[in-house]
Amino acid sequence: MAARIISGTEIAAQIREELKKETAELKEKSGVVPGLVTILVGKNPASVSYVTAKQKAAHELGFYSIQDDQPDDISEESLLQLVYRYNNDSKIHGILVQLPIPKHIDEKKILNAIDPDKDVDCFHPINVGRLMIGGDEARFLPCTPAGIQELIVRAGFETSGAEVVVVGRSNIVGKPIANIMLQKGRGANSTVTVVHTGTKDLESHCKRADILIVAAGVPHLVKPEWIKPGACVIDVGVNRVGEKISEKTGKPVPILKGDVDFDAAKEIAGAITPVPGGVGPMTITMLMKNTVKSAKISAGIK
Ligand code: GUN
Repeated sequence: MAARIISGTEIAAQIREELKKETAELKEKSGVVPGLVTILVGKNPASVSYVTAKQKAAHELGFYSIQDDQPDDISEESLLQLVYRYNNDSKIHGILVQLPIPKHIDEKKILNAIDPDKDVDCFHPINVGRLMIGGDEARFLPCTPAGIQELIVRAGFETSGAEVVVVGRSNIVGKPIANIMLQKGRGANSTVTVVHTGTKDLESHCKRADILIVAAGVPHLVKPEWIKPGACVIDVGVNRVGEKISEKTGKPVPILKGDVDFDAAKEIAGAITPVPGGVGPMTITMLMKNTVKSAKISAGIK
């Protein structure tokens, strides 16, 4: 039987409706409006489109939002000063510096300068540590991993006791999603295995997975025969493999391929996310969720 398609687009739209209400209630009760600044250095086309989508979402939810564009020759010191300025701006509850940033700037230095209480990306070492401890300690969850967990839960999969296999060990996806799924509590409590480029037999690990999360950045790495029948497959890969002309706009758009061979895998999996329209829309939604949370904390509301 063909797998159920887990639509990130639909689930993200539901969550955004919830957040819109929360934002309006927060404003009514406390006068606080969630504030988000996205800082973009240079004009990398992919970054421009991500940041535009983040701003559009913030605007639609009724946030106070700022798009701060900086030239690609900005000095490290000037970028640090900009971050400090937003750290001290009480109208701003979330600060996001879009990555990558130019090579002449130390990325770590910039990310570590963001006030951890406004670090809605959850990239600051303090927040990474809080995530590792788990429970109430974790103020924000990193956006893509949080979106993945939400997709699994809303798709109705039992995570407690499930074998979760994560393919990839990046700081943005692999390590944090492994951490989230092994915590005690709702939507987690799983037995987690992380496989990576040093793993001897990827296939045998993937075959055991009740929930398979693939974030390797390799188009069609996971073959259909690696998937356990009925498994939940979350494909985080967004690989640009060429360009085509959009029927809608007549302009060139990237051709995207996931890390999983979707057409073949959907005949075996129980449920699977498409690329695009799976994890992607959830990442931005979780950024909005973190910003609302940060605003609520600053208003003294839990
Ligand atoms: N570049 C690609 N993904 C992300 C993200 O989630 N956050 C930031 N800050 N930059 C990115």
